[in-house]
Amino acid sequence: MTRIAVYPGSFDPLTFGHLDIAARAARLFDEVHILVVHNPSKTPRFSSEERVELIRASMPEAARYGVSFPSSAHSKVIIDTLDGGLLADYCHRVGASVLVKGVRNGVDIDYEVPMARVNRDLAGVETVLIPADPSQGFVSSSLVKQVADLGGSVEKYVPSPVVRALAATAKNQK
Ligand code: PNS
Repeated sequence: MTRIAVYPGSFDPLTFGHLDIAARAARLFDEVHILVVHNPSKTPRFSSEERVELIRASMPEAARYGVSFPSSAHSKVIIDTLDGGLLADYCHRVGASVLVKGVRNGVDIDYEVPMARVNRDLAGVETVLIPADPSQGFVSSSLVKQVADLGGSVEKYVPSPVVRALAATAKNQK
């Protein structure tokens, strides 16, 4: 049986923390869908297509950042978008029985547990919470955007395609 997992999030933009969770999920499952989800409670900096492109451009360079994905013979990674509708329905469509989420602290766990219960209730999909690597435990997409907008260096937190994209969009924010 092929074990398929979905790793959903806003990824606005992708951080090293996200990349690390995706790589660790790829070692646990045969197929992992990194799913860029439209979150109606957030106004994204990047379009879904741009976020997908940033993930795609960052993955081949993951090893440069100390993140290692298993070979494609061992696990398939798919990057996809969900611009509306339930995550549970997406899981059902692609045959996924597991959702993967990265958690940095207790606040993240408190946020994730009710969603995990809803997704299990709606579609029998289990959620696996993976603790973030301590080196990335304080990094979030929103903090990274703020630092970049104020002219700070974000190279320690995000892959170089994201550094460039943030620099390009930050010009209009200063
Ligand atoms: O990176 P984020 O913004 O914290 O990700 C949140 C996300 C996109 C995973 C969450 O908003 C979500 O699950 N959206 C899908 C809509 C859905 O199915 N909601 C009901 C069950 S929680």
